[in-house]
Amino acid sequence: MPHDPDLILIEHPVISHLLTVARDRKTSSSRFRAVLETIGELLAYEATRDLRLKTRDVQTPLEPFRGQALAGPITIVPILRAGLGLATPMLSLIPTARMGHIGMFRNEDSLQPEHYYEKLPPDVGAGPAILVDPMLATGGSAMAGASLLKQRGCRDIRFICLLAAPEGIDAMQRAHPDVPIYTAAIDRQLNDYGFICPGLGDAGDRIFGTTD
Ligand code: PRP
Repeated sequence: MPHDPDLILIEHPVISHLLTVARDRKTSSSRFRAVLETIGELLAYEATRDLRLKTRDVQTPLEPFRGQALAGPITIVPILRAGLGLATPMLSLIPTARMGHIGMFRNEDSLQPEHYYEKLPPDVGAGPAILVDPMLATGGSAMAGASLLKQRGCRDIRFICLLAAPEGIDAMQRAHPDVPIYTAAIDRQLNDYGFICPGLGDAGDRIFGTTD
């Protein structure tokens, strides 16, 4: 299979171990959240390797030093609800980032995303936007999120998820070929209800302990 520079599968033994814990139906919500925190930091670490830097002059206790700082402003944008579980660890890695929120849920009959909330920094387009959602299933939510960010002026968007289905990857890449996808796993397929298989179930329910 040719290497696709815009589909980055982040492989790491710790991620493989923890992702299996996350998939286990017996894993509690508190453990699920903890696992997502650790995986989220590792994903963020890999997905931010190419962020731009600017020069920053500081004074060490001994002498002046010309160092670097992240060129901002960087905005982390979780797609509510489930995106929150990944966004918090990203913010731990990049504490100077801002957080913007997009509320979107998937209509269970049509599988189409329904947009119910938006709170983004007014200058969100002034720097990179990191769109996060644990699941890329049909791709509807991620595509709508990326479209919204583009409408708000974003030109540098990257999408980070935990699990991606081939159907969602394909749809997202067709709609937004300029948005790289970072994922911890590419699962087999969607089932008839639009769930990723083998998957981990409904990420939002598992994070927040609800059953819908
Ligand atoms: C899930 C998931 C994604 C979306 C993925 O959210 O967190 O946002 O579905 O599906 P798609 O790729 O087919 O759009 P859900 O609708 O369950 O909302 P929630 O995050 O509030 O639980």
